[in-house]
Amino acid sequence: MSGRKPQHDQGPCTIRSVRADDFEAISEIYAPYVRDTAITFEVDPPSARTMCDRWQSSSATGAPYLVAERDGQLIGYAGSRPFGEKVGFAWTLENAIYLDAGYQRRGIGLALLEALVNEAATAGFRQMVALITALETETNKDTASVYLHRRAGFTVSGRLANVGFKLGRWHNLIYMQRALGEGAASSPIPVTRASPTLA
Ligand SMILES: CC(C)(COP(=O)(O)OP(=O)(O)OC[C@H]1O[C@@H](n2cnc3c(N)ncnc32)[C@H](O)[C@@H]1OP(=O)(O)O)[C@@H](O)C(=O)NCCC(=O)NCCS
Repeated sequence: MSGRKPQHDQGPCTIRSVRADDFEAISEIYAPYVRDTAITFEVDPPSARTMCDRWQSSSATGAPYLVAERDGQLIGYAGSRPFGEKVGFAWTLENAIYLDAGYQRRGIGLALLEALVNEAATAGFRQMVALITALETETNKDTASVYLHRRAGFTVSGRLANVGFKLGRWHNLIYMQRALGEGAASSPIPVTRASPTLA
């Protein structure tokens, strides 16, 4: 894919498809969120090898996975994988998006997510789902991820109470969702035709 530049960022930033040799940097970006937050419910930071293996198994379905680079440094990523293993879920993706903490609030997350949505729609997927930990406090009722997804056209489609335990407490989850392409307005093309690797 061709590089795209975030609208609001100060300096040049390129978005491109992930490569196997990106996963050292990706695992370093992800690790602090695993160790220190309930944004993800993993508790042990996965190795670069593990993250690469996960990508390789989901990329066989055609699910897009993008990275943002600045000055040759990988500063964020947006990945996707099938929402469920059963065949009927083949057109629905779950996403994940993480930035290096030093690069937040510059439009990079939105640029990555919009690019992921466009790639997924072009590939024939029909829905994208984000599963977001509700980290609300008394002063801040939404998390950055809720703001980001709303800005990218997602709406809240469900909430689950107390389904994740991490860092000493139970957490609620928010489902956000948006249609891709024709969404539910038409039947999808058969799985075997959407991508040779989806069957
Ligand atoms: C969530 C995350 C990817 C957002 O990326 P980002 O580059 O910081 O977000 P952007 O600068 O593109 O902002 C996109 C929109 O969300 C809003 N937003 C982002 N973070 C916000 C925050 N903390 N509070 C309020 N609004 C916020 C921005 O104002 C912007 O809206 P606008 O264009 O109307 O002003 C980034 O904060 C991050 O990596 N967070 C930690 C990991 C995480 O939570 N991942 C999501 C897991 S589901």
